[in-house]
Amino acid sequence: MQFEVLARCKTTRARVCRMKLAHGVTMLPTFMPVATQAAIKGLTAEQVDSLGVSLLLNNTYHLNLRPGLQVLNEAGGAHKFQGWQRNLLTDSGGFQLVSLSKFTTITEEGALFSSPFTGEPTMLTPEESILIQHTIGADIIMQLDDVVSSLTVGPRVEEAMERSVRWLDRCIARHEASGKTTTQNLFAIIQGGLDPVLRDKCLDEMTKRKDGVAGYAIGGLSGGEEKDIFWKIIKQCAEKLPEDRPRYSMGIGFAEDLLVCVALGVDMADCVFPTRTARFGVALTHGGPINLRLSKHAVDLNPIDPDCPCPTCKDGTSRAILHHTVTHETSAAHALTLHNITFQAQVMGRARTAIMEGTFPEYLLSFFKQYFGDNG
Ligand code: GUN
Ligand code: ZN
Repeated sequence: MQFEVLARCKTTRARVCRMKLAHGVTMLPTFMPVATQAAIKGLTAEQVDSLGVSLLLNNTYHLNLRPGLQVLNEAGGAHKFQGWQRNLLTDSGGFQLVSLSKFTTITEEGALFSSPFTGEPTMLTPEESILIQHTIGADIIMQLDDVVSSLTVGPRVEEAMERSVRWLDRCIARHEASGKTTTQNLFAIIQGGLDPVLRDKCLDEMTKRKDGVAGYAIGGLSGGEEKDIFWKIIKQCAEKLPEDRPRYSMGIGFAEDLLVCVALGVDMADCVFPTRTARFGVALTHGGPINLRLSKHAVDLNPIDPDCPCPTCKDGTSRAILHHTVTHETSAAHALTLHNITFQAQVMGRARTAIMEGTFPEYLLSFFKQYFGDNG
């Protein structure tokens, strides 16, 4: 990976970076749409590309189950399998310890999942997660971490943090033995729950391993904790992480959270929110989210946002037709997904421009005024 800081905000810790990976350049800060199953629901890879997305997220756990390693191997990796020419990041499967907790048992060796399809048990070890991610061939691969919900308290939080450090060592060893370190870049994931002391310990241990790590994620957040605690943890982590490594906050996707994270020094984020909420009929706009299922949109012939460059708004697709179709036609979900991905990219693109031009604080002010102001 080539990683270069191009500009810094003088007031906040926001920065613009250029990250060059095997499938091209991604400018940071950026938002990564989530294609868990090697597809953004409802869109083709070409459509996602045409929106200007240069970094997409896939999930190791899901791709290992379906289509499985044999198909991925035969395809020559997940890029070819899904027809995606740009950069790809795979999450390790660690998060499924929380999202599929009913089906998992955790041991020092790894995470034991019972398949939601067949009930058959499969052990995901740190080494295996890395091997699967090697077969997938993502440009950025994540360590397997021991993840607990951000609402978990007690000794389990410390155990998970310490295990995540030990698992990082196993991931680094497996990755370095593979000879793939020039094309695939391993990221560590800071854990430690909402406890600043545990976060600090994790930061100390994981930054010691900087030579084996191309970037750092901040994990274990966005699980229903208070916003001010969330921000404090992001601030603490971003301040202590090395300047010459990208910083990725996992599972963050509300525009307001993205901009606060960027101001605190975060470079990358991902979340299912913008694409999932699109399928529920919600369009994200600079004036705040719009729920197109509401009857007030039934006779509104305006597009979602006349200034939006997405294919849906450029075509002049009206709020009325979206309202009319959103509950029973998949085309409305596609149209809103195209729009919401464009919106996320625009929020981050404007942040990059503002940081470069030295106007990031003004951008924050105008964004928040418009997003939370009274726009009818
Ligand atoms: N996605 C959201 N949060 C996390 C996390 O803490 N770990 C992993 N691996 N993925 C995540
Ligand atoms: Zn649009």
